[in-house]
Amino acid sequence: MSEKKPNKTVKVWDAGIRLFHWALAILFCLSAYSAFQDKFGIYADIHLNAGIATLMLVIWRIVWGVVGSDTARFSQFVKSPTAGFAHLKKMVAGLPYKAIGHNPLGGLSVVLMLVLLLAQASMGLFASDGMIFSGPLSREVTGSLSSDLTSWHALLGRILIGIVAFHVLVVLVYGVFKRANLIWPMISGNISAEPSASVPIMKPGWLALLLFFAVGAAVCLSVF
Ligand code: HEM
Ligand code: HEM
Repeated sequence: MSEKKPNKTVKVWDAGIRLFHWALAILFCLSAYSAFQDKFGIYADIHLNAGIATLMLVIWRIVWGVVGSDTARFSQFVKSPTAGFAHLKKMVAGLPYKAIGHNPLGGLSVVLMLVLLLAQASMGLFASDGMIFSGPLSREVTGSLSSDLTSWHALLGRILIGIVAFHVLVVLVYGVFKRANLIWPMISGNISAEPSASVPIMKPGWLALLLFFAVGAAVCLSVF
């Protein structure tokens, strides 16, 4: 009888994705918290700056989703809702969690979060309370469009807080009910996988950094 080969360590998240994720998590919490504080002091600065940094991160992530590492690319992880539903059925039926990178349902939730974060941070640029707290491009829009963008920004901000809370809850549910620790790979980059598992190709960190500087510069030039 042949012996079962030991699992191997596979890199699933490159450094760019991991830095992106934890920076986004911190900036989102700052944006969300400061949104509900007194806007006449430091919280206004925190809200605007954390929001603009969020915008840079999300645009970088979209670019990285096209040219980045295998597990970061949309073409690799965006599957149909049917595939997402099939994954959910497998999980409920008690099958083990085996994804290398995003699972089909997780992939759809990533796209949803990125699209809504992009819309939220972009609308914030044009939002204004009509007094002293305004996004840097708020003067570019007038009349009802300005107040509509501000209302949608305030509404979507609340919806996003709910979606992100659900995201964290789902990660915890995988940990408790499926014994799948998804958090450690988002810190270390690695998972332990079956010997036959395919190894994703990772793109170099310097490319991620270069693209981030380019995106950062483009956002600064457009916003300030
Ligand atoms: C402490 C809180 C958080 C934890 C523990 C957490 C955990 C995770 C984990 C484990 C993944 C990878 C899921 C997978 O294996 O497919 C992930 C992905 C992701 N999370 Fe979070 N998350 C947190 C907060 C946030 C926040 C606040 C946001 C957004 C504002 C966010 C947005 C995302 C996004 C966009 C991805 C996809 C990563 C990518 O492919 O670029 N997360 N998160
Ligand atoms: C993902 C990032 C962001 C989140 C989660 C967020 C969330 C929110 C929320 C929930 C509100 C409503 C607060 C209330 O009802 O009192 C708000 C207001 C506001 N936000 Fe953001 N925001 C983000 C990004 C931005 C950005 C990038 C800017 C501009 C650079 C911005 C500018 C504003 C302004 C000017 C208001 C005030 C609108 C008013 O008082 O009527 N936000 N934000």
